Amino acid sequence: MSRPDAAAELISRSGKPAYVKHARLVEWVREMAALCEPDRIYWCDGSKEEYDRLCQEMIDAGSMIRLDEQKRPNSFLVRSDPADVARMEDRTFVCTEDQDDAGPNNNWVAPAEMRATLGGLFKGCMRGRTMYVIPFSMGPLGSHIAHIGVELSDSPYVVVSMRIMTRMGEKVYDVLGSDGEFVPCIHSVGMPLEAGQSDIAWPSNREHKYIVHYPETKEIWSFGSGYGGNALLGKKCFALRIASIMAKEQGWLAEHMLILGITAPTGEKKYVAAAFPSACGKTNLAMLIPPKGMDDWKVTTVGEDIAWIKPGKDGQLYAINPEAGYFGVAPGTGPETNATALGMLDADTIFTNVALTADGDVWWEGMTKTPPKELIDWQGKPWTPDCGRLAAHPNSRFTVSAERCATLDPEWDNPNGVPISAFVFGGRRNDTVPLVAEGFNWNYGVYMAATMGSETTAAATGAVGVVRRDPFAMLPFCGYHFGDYFNHWLRIGHTVSQPPRIYCVNWFQRDEQGRFIWPGFGENMRVLKWIVQRTMGAVGAQETALGWIPRFEDMDFRGMDISREQFERLTRIDAELWRKEIESHGELFEQLKSRLPREMVLKRELMKLDLWRDAA
Ligand code: GTP
Ligand code: SPV
Ligand code: MN
Repeated sequence: MSRPDAAAELISRSGKPAYVKHARLVEWVREMAALCEPDRIYWCDGSKEEYDRLCQEMIDAGSMIRLDEQKRPNSFLVRSDPADVARMEDRTFVCTEDQDDAGPNNNWVAPAEMRATLGGLFKGCMRGRTMYVIPFSMGPLGSHIAHIGVELSDSPYVVVSMRIMTRMGEKVYDVLGSDGEFVPCIHSVGMPLEAGQSDIAWPSNREHKYIVHYPETKEIWSFGSGYGGNALLGKKCFALRIASIMAKEQGWLAEHMLILGITAPTGEKKYVAAAFPSACGKTNLAMLIPPKGMDDWKVTTVGEDIAWIKPGKDGQLYAINPEAGYFGVAPGTGPETNATALGMLDADTIFTNVALTADGDVWWEGMTKTPPKELIDWQGKPWTPDCGRLAAHPNSRFTVSAERCATLDPEWDNPNGVPISAFVFGGRRNDTVPLVAEGFNWNYGVYMAATMGSETTAAATGAVGVVRRDPFAMLPFCGYHFGDYFNHWLRIGHTVSQPPRIYCVNWFQRDEQGRFIWPGFGENMRVLKWIVQRTMGAVGAQETALGWIPRFEDMDFRGMDISREQFERLTRIDAELWRKEIESHGELFEQLKSRLPREMVLKRELMKLDLWRDAA
């Protein structure tokens, strides 16, 4: 900016509402405006009127399409740049003074060096654009488990998405007052509009993308991408990476977990939190519809991506869903796989990178058995079923308010959270990991979660279908050294008097032809029931080297056609495969060894003894 007081002038012209009384916040906005040089500053109030207006502006600008009002009321389609379609793990950084604090599980650059790089990129990056000030609460407003953030962004798509995904707007300032804590989050699509330059439908920066976290000062800086977790900074950046660090410092947990309620026919109710890597079925499980024969059991939804979990005075762990909406994978969402999610999308939804039908509706692979005869694909090109391309991008998503979920749990908004009886961990594994196993105790469960592996999915850029270690489904999201994180988990289990039991599951075993051998989806209820009954002490199990596993007669198979042989195949523990598996845990432990808890090493030795003896 030409004059040093230009940013102050922008603030004074911005119509800053009287309810914004936080001097430090205003000063930060001024500093960021001086750096980014937007044309204007806009203070979001979170109202419906504001949402409608911004959507209309995007429609007028050609970056959003209104869907047919009869077919999908109040719903929109957005198409991103084909080079900006998912989280970018290789462009995500955790910048600590000491590299070892970030750990081998994070990309690291020294803070001073990163600040210099970002300083250059952010300089003037919002020219010709509006800087939106987006105040949001992760968790129910005022909850003792919740925390506040403020995102500055030059993307109206981010504003409308944040209104769905978080508690966003005016009321946040009541909680913040004149001096409350907030996490500052700055985001730019990284495409300034120089004088006379016209905008494009999905601005982004093709050359430079950075998603940066400074744990020591609890700041988030994101440049160059407008998509999902790269840009909606309350989600992965705040609620997982920064929050995981706050959680370690303050004695709680921030996890990549869904939260669901399970009500037994007796009326007894338990809550379960379950971690799966991206695009491995959290949304599906969180909205599970019990299968034929088990409709006397009921599942309700608290959250489908993130859980913040704090110890309660009664010695139980209590969880909230810090989000207020779902940013869910569209492909594969169909009447058989997730009718509840499909129902949510009937109205009030923003779709990104799905296909458009001739009559102004949306479509993606898996929505219906037979695709429409012709479509406009996610890149805006004509599409026919035989054209050899996917109509929707594999990581195309819907953004929709939790309030639209028919199975929403009555306690989902409870500021005190819900008590957790079991933690479940699962990945995509063709073999090795059985349908379900219960850890012998807390430390054992932590070992299982720490060593879990999974095939990579389209939720992040890079190779798909490669098995990698993904401890706690947190590999892309833990903001600090995994060794310290395992240690934190071990400690939490011993600070509460009623720690949840820990389970691992695998819905994804395949036969020699590559077909899934477990039907999954609603049928997963059978596994959930066994888990819940275990926590109630109401069902048996058999002991194995890996933990407790159900016997055929311990599971409810009413209404399902399954033989004892099929069941044994699903719960088989192949000693040969497990010896390989335990060997490969050694590679992870080697990487983390400077901070790996001794319990992990000793547990591994014990398991080796057991498995090698079983084999003898
Ligand atoms: P993020 O939002 O990326 O964190 O992921 P998520 O875990 O919420 O992913 P989501 O539930 O959207 O996962 C969708 C993918 O998992 C689709 O490919 C589904 O077909 C698949 N999926 C979900 N449940 C099952 C299951 O029980 N069995 C099998 N085989 N696939 C499943
Ligand atoms: C994930 O990748 O785990 C997501 C989607 O939930 S994103 O918000 O883009 O990270
Ligand atoms: Mn996720």
